[in-house]
Amino acid sequence: MNDEFRSLFPLTSDVVYLDSAATSLTPTSVLEEMNDYYNKYCANIDRGVHHLSKLASHRYGDTHKKIGELIGCSGKEVVLTKNTTEAINQVAFGLDWSKNDHVITTVMEHHSNFVPWLRLREKGVKVDVIGIKNGQIDLNELKNKITSETRLIAICHASNVLGTINPVIEIGKICRENDILYLVDGAQSTPHLPIDVQKIGCDFYSFSGHKMLGPTGIGALYCKQKHQEKLKPLMVGGGNVSNVTKTGYTLKKGYHRLEAGTPNIAGAIGLTKAIQILNEIGLKNIRKHEEKLNKTLIDELRNLDGLNILNPDIDRTGVISFTIKGKDPHKIALQLDQKNIIVRSGNHCSQPLVEHYNYDKVIRTSHYIYNTQKEIKTLCKELKKLI
Ligand SMILES: Cc1ncc(COP(=O)(O)O)c(C=O)c1O
Repeated sequence: MNDEFRSLFPLTSDVVYLDSAATSLTPTSVLEEMNDYYNKYCANIDRGVHHLSKLASHRYGDTHKKIGELIGCSGKEVVLTKNTTEAINQVAFGLDWSKNDHVITTVMEHHSNFVPWLRLREKGVKVDVIGIKNGQIDLNELKNKITSETRLIAICHASNVLGTINPVIEIGKICRENDILYLVDGAQSTPHLPIDVQKIGCDFYSFSGHKMLGPTGIGALYCKQKHQEKLKPLMVGGGNVSNVTKTGYTLKKGYHRLEAGTPNIAGAIGLTKAIQILNEIGLKNIRKHEEKLNKTLIDELRNLDGLNILNPDIDRTGVISFTIKGKDPHKIALQLDQKNIIVRSGNHCSQPLVEHYNYDKVIRTSHYIYNTQKEIKTLCKELKKLI
């Protein structure tokens, strides 16, 4: 990426930011777009007849449309949420579960695509967690776990710890053949890969704006139109009801029924701008850039004594986790921080996965479109010194 592009991210001149899997940096143009909303047409949406509300409503509606174009569905099938966690909880809470319904998820999941399913056990739902082999979902185990009671399969498109890109299209076929609902957690794929929910064949797909150049507090749930009326909203109140009397209420139709209360209007407008930037660069180019950085990083890390990369050879996004023999991951992250290199350490909200590798913490570096080869080399040089 050239210097002009990097100047959109002022923090890149202060630090080597390698924690984009947690939250990506936000370009100044996204912030300007949000400021414009507050300065020039600040109003609530779908409530007033005045021109400010009309403009704000139009821009908010446009976010649904732009997300639809990004992931290959109609804007009407996009529900705006706070984040991925809310989107997944909306599905887990919103479906009408019966005792003995069966859900399959994997040990590779972020807690946000794990705990909402575990909680369904309170309703008598059976939950199976399938394992991984060499950093990849064990598809045979997945197929073997399917029973006539399997109602939903929930998996991540890409792992937030390993970077593994899962065979979501193949799993989609398995779901359709067995008439199983299919939720894909796209928090770690939407920022990095071209997405087509029709090709994936999923019923639900979730992601967060803050991992893809957008602001925090805005995310989305793709919910196939035929399921929208079946999901019970997480919340009710203003915004998602069409008629209220002293004795009852009628929910609105479409995505409106799942968006109660004043939404994050500025966040939605910021996300539209972030999507425009991603489209201008092109997700295929983003992928190519990350693959080049992956190659440099893995080649260099392999040469460091005592450094163990978790599954170096998988097809991955720009996420790489590792440990260093005899060194505490938090201490390494703090030492790197003193050199203004930002990486994350811990279990990355994926405790079952990290424990699968017999660790309680690992170090994770995750790069994105604004990172450079020079930064990757700086990280490796500092790691070498620490070792
Ligand atoms: C794979 C995955 N799923 C879900 C989440 C949760 O995202 P959020 O905190 O934005 O809801 C994350 C965040 O790191 C993630 O990496």
